[in-house]
Amino acid sequence: MSHKLYLYPKWIRLWHATNALMFIILIITGISMQYTDKETNYFIIRFDRAILLHNFAALIITISYILFVTGNVLTKNGKQYRIDWKKIWKELFIQFKFYSYGMFKSEPHPFPVTEERKFNPLQQFVYVLAMYIGMPLLIVSGVGLLFPEITIKGIFGISGLLLTDVLHITMGFFLSIFMIIHLYTCTLGSKPTTLFKGMITGYHEADEH
Ligand code: HEM
Repeated sequence: MSHKLYLYPKWIRLWHATNALMFIILIITGISMQYTDKETNYFIIRFDRAILLHNFAALIITISYILFVTGNVLTKNGKQYRIDWKKIWKELFIQFKFYSYGMFKSEPHPFPVTEERKFNPLQQFVYVLAMYIGMPLLIVSGVGLLFPEITIKGIFGISGLLLTDVLHITMGFFLSIFMIIHLYTCTLGSKPTTLFKGMITGYHEADEH
């Protein structure tokens, strides 16, 4: 038995689809620029094209990020991202135990999806880290690289541009790892396709509990 919950309104689906597509373009063009061969000016995509595409995808993802934050401020979706600091560590442990062995013994999900709480604690914690720390740092450092004239000249004798670059690449790396783990955890619904279907139709198919 299952029932449907409307968890992903149109604006979230629009933001998420844009975000996922642009993120993939950013990863491919980012890797392409980083490993471009100096002689041929080429790795996966020609260097000048990779820059153009990277800047374009970055602009679109920034606009869609503003949509995400605005949507979360103006609608009740924002509540899903409010961490209860008194309970989070204990709940993270329970969820972690479920993913480590409960899940393999077909135990029920410790935090079943409801309208009030659509994310389990691990999802919530990681989403907050990715969306409210990772993404802003990635965007700000990206803007700093695009407009080097506004970037600080240096800290303790180390080039500001180099530090901005390291921050940008580190955040890009962490968020890429996040995306890979995110893809895997999105297969852990009642069926492997349940959560993906939810993000397309807006409706999450929840088990009766
Ligand atoms: C091809 C790439 C991706 C796929 C297939 C995918 C898939 C999904 C699915 C199925 C959900 C709904 C399940 C859930 O409630 O967690 C979801 C939610 C979410 N995803 Fe992704 N995702 C992708 C990329 C990304 C990226 C790159 C980010 C961030 C950098 C991201 C951030 C999120 C967030 C924050 C949510 C929760 C949205 C909300 O309901 O408020 N996803 N994703």
